[in-house]
Amino acid sequence: MGDLLAEIQNKTATVGVIGLGYVGLPLLLRFGDAGFPLIGFDVDSRKINALLHGEKYIKHIPIEPIQQFLSRQQLEVTLDFRRVREADCIVICVPTPLTDKMEPDLQYIVKTTETIAENLRPGQLVVLESTTYPGTTEELMLPRLQKTGLQVGRDFFLAFSPEREDPGNRNYHTGNIPKVVGGVTPACLERAQALYEHAITQVIPVSSTRVAELTKLLENIYRSVNIALVNELKVLALRMGIDIWEVIEAASTKPFGFTPFFPGPGLGGHCIPIDPFYLSWKAREYDFPTRFIQLAGEVNVSMPYYVLDRVIEALNERQKCLKGSEILVLGVAYKKDIDDDRESPSYAIMQLLLERGARVHYNDPHIPRLKPGRKHAFAQESVPLTQEILEKMDAVMILTDHSAYDYSWIVRHARLVIDTRNATKGVQDGREKIVKA
Ligand SMILES: NC(=O)c1ccc[n+]([C@@H]2O[C@H](COP(=O)([O-])OP(=O)(O)OC[C@H]3O[C@@H](n4cnc5c(N)ncnc54)[C@H](O)[C@@H]3O)[C@@H](O)[C@H]2O)c1
Repeated sequence: MGDLLAEIQNKTATVGVIGLGYVGLPLLLRFGDAGFPLIGFDVDSRKINALLHGEKYIKHIPIEPIQQFLSRQQLEVTLDFRRVREADCIVICVPTPLTDKMEPDLQYIVKTTETIAENLRPGQLVVLESTTYPGTTEELMLPRLQKTGLQVGRDFFLAFSPEREDPGNRNYHTGNIPKVVGGVTPACLERAQALYEHAITQVIPVSSTRVAELTKLLENIYRSVNIALVNELKVLALRMGIDIWEVIEAASTKPFGFTPFFPGPGLGGHCIPIDPFYLSWKAREYDFPTRFIQLAGEVNVSMPYYVLDRVIEALNERQKCLKGSEILVLGVAYKKDIDDDRESPSYAIMQLLLERGARVHYNDPHIPRLKPGRKHAFAQESVPLTQEILEKMDAVMILTDHSAYDYSWIVRHARLVIDTRNATKGVQDGREKIVKA
């Protein structure tokens, strides 16, 4: 068994990243920039082939550095998981979705752990990055890895380090977002910390994998609860004739004790609508109802229904009914200026509109076509945003406030604009056509 710490220090340790998606791919690039030899693993042959042929599959992640790493033989990408044995440090970035019953779906972590166990050798470090409930690393992974007869903290090392990402944020990226790390033993922590310190500006060691696991969930629950709070207050404020966005702007001038969150048509993205339920599920083992998580979930899930009511009301005011109306949805990405539509509330709203007989079209400059997903069956192409289409629509709904849209021009040519994001704030002319929702 080589000296892993020394190999990490002199960057001869090979880093294997399992799961080359939104989290794994940027991480691979970071370790590559730091100078480590790399192996990238994925079960999706289209992703592996795309990387080998220099084709992008995630818009905001550049392909050129990957090509450079491949051509100078610093990186290999493969579908062959037996090669996990060649990696000294293995970082796992596989999905952690929910099942249809809103329970943690850990099949990807289990499968990956079993594959690693089949190939585990002395001296390896295994780090889980996927978001999950406290206890996953020690209860689910550790027994499977120790079944090999190898002892954690002595023969191999196991840690958890959650990923933090803010897609579309120009100031923060994988390399400069502080990273929390917890190890199963002090020796595990020492090695995981040493590895990340080469690639990440600031590493924050914590006392256990459970602390690291719960840290990530706290961060996401905090967002979910606060978004639910402003979403609920939005509904009340609009009923009271008060503009909630103006209220939030005013409250944001308080220099302490207030962090602004912004309402919208619901909650989207791969993390915030899903991760809190990992904790709710685990809490059941402790007879503990996680009421904030449940309540935030209820409020956020109800938002598309609220938006639907606002459209029906606004059409009604114009003596139109929803059935048969032509509706244009602007934005299916779950937040502005990104091409990620996972769990987007736009789908829930489009589905509700369709079920009530509306004719629904969409435009999103970042998402040219829709693929059928878990909760919807759309297979549509983004329609060009022209004056003609705006004039033809009974309602235009702003569901994602992409910067590429010219909101004054949209309002000028639309008959009715339902704005769920306060995107039309600066629009002067045609305000009578705007309905906030
Ligand atoms: N996307 C984010 O912004 C974000 C932020 C923080 C944390 N996370 C967490 O990171 C984890 C990964 O999320 P993501 O957004 O990168 O997902 P993703 O779907 O973009 O990528 C996951 C990759 O893993 C691959 N994969 C699936 N099963 C596999 C297996 N058995 N072996 C190897 N590869 C496998 C998939 O093909 C895919 O390429 C999740 O737990 C997620 O909650 C995501």
